[in-house]
Amino acid sequence: MPTITVTQRSGQAQDIVIPAGVSLMEGLRDAGVEETFALCGGYCACATCHVYIAVDWAPKLPAPSEDEEDALEGCGHRTRQSRLSCQVVFVEALDGLQVRIAQED
Ligand code: FES
Repeated sequence: MPTITVTQRSGQAQDIVIPAGVSLMEGLRDAGVEETFALCGGYCACATCHVYIAVDWAPKLPAPSEDEEDALEGCGHRTRQSRLSCQVVFVEALDGLQVRIAQED
């Protein structure tokens, strides 16, 4: 199964396995990464699942939807690598993805 490297706010990095077909948020949550709170349950409404996608990987993801862009606008720590992990469907081609948990707003 595909593996990603996630860096938590502390700087600690870990590899986790995520099955294809689930959202990145679900994969992080199921792996016990508790820094993605996902308060709205993945409905693109809370932005508490905010992550930064590594520069090399960001262009490989589908562009954010208008709803995701709207939700990201409220994030004080938004960067060009910002995505809402609940809106990124994980696929095999993302094996090796590098993600960092965003600063909490
Ligand atoms: S879980 Fe709420 S916006 Fe992603």
